[in-house]
Amino acid sequence: MTIEPRTNSSFPTTRLRRLRYNPAVRELVRQTRLSPANLVLPLFVRPGRNVRREIAAMPGNYQMSPDLLAEEIRRLADLGLGGVILFGIPDAKDASGSDATSASGIVAEALRVAKPAAAQMLLVTDVCFCEYTDHGHCGPVSDATGRVDVDNDATLQLLAAQAVVHARAGADMVAPSGMMDGMVAAIRGGLDEAGFTHLPIMSYAAKYASAFYGPFREAAESAPQFGDRRGYQMDPAAGGGQAMREIELDLAEGADIIMVKPALPYLDILRQARDRFPGVPLAAYNVSGEFSMIKAAARSGWLDEKAAALESLTAIRRAGADIILTYWAQDAAGWLGK
Ligand code: PBG
Repeated sequence: MTIEPRTNSSFPTTRLRRLRYNPAVRELVRQTRLSPANLVLPLFVRPGRNVRREIAAMPGNYQMSPDLLAEEIRRLADLGLGGVILFGIPDAKDASGSDATSASGIVAEALRVAKPAAAQMLLVTDVCFCEYTDHGHCGPVSDATGRVDVDNDATLQLLAAQAVVHARAGADMVAPSGMMDGMVAAIRGGLDEAGFTHLPIMSYAAKYASAFYGPFREAAESAPQFGDRRGYQMDPAAGGGQAMREIELDLAEGADIIMVKPALPYLDILRQARDRFPGVPLAAYNVSGEFSMIKAAARSGWLDEKAAALESLTAIRRAGADIILTYWAQDAAGWLGK
């Protein structure tokens, strides 16, 4: 019997299932890996003592007072997470969001308690005003243009002041999320002048005006009281070209890490950012709505939460994200093992 040499690379010589038959081989050839070290957990802090209020639309997530936040972070430090990002909910809000720029504001207070509680835990802070203003917009508003709008340039100095307050209170990194033009340059300038030349900025560079922020606005009590955020956040129909321009500008202004937000509905934007800026650390925010959808479906018995969550996080990494901000960070660390 003669054996014909087979030189073609199609069936039956090639059988792609060979790489899937043995779980150990599947594991060996897996190209996308998830690690707790890439995940950042958002946490919500509000004034008081011993306060722990569950956020209805985001089961397993709480608004916590600084004392409990410190305990929480100490516990989280053992999970090997990449870090946490803090959002503040002040008791009193006003037109300019003054709690955000005060050294006795809620985030500053939380940082002073949390940093010593777990020095090795990376503490990032969200730098924006929507949680602090009584109107819920991301900076002070004015009608100088003939209609009520966030005053971009007045917001810049306030953002710089907020970032410096956070840095002095112990933040390891600041993350501006307001989509104001010039925000990264203003914050870089403020930090440098105050002696924080070493403190990195993770910019929410391509942030879309998304319906998927709904549950977060309940969590942070930050829904705009009039209008919406479409005058500053990107139009969901805007293509990658505009997103790349946003990112380029933020990099030119000094951003160290860039972010695309939300994640799952914008994987195309993530992929473009990965390919266009291969040398820049890229983050994705797996936002509240992406989390709540799966939670709700799982609670109805329609989806397996762990499988759907890990698949989501894997897809976000596969699209190119180095870092994922996600409400599953803690659960994922448990699911993945250390
Ligand atoms: C603004 C901010 C928002 C989120 C993070 N930072 C809300 C918004 O722009 O309305 C949303 C995060 C989420 O939905 O999980 N400070």
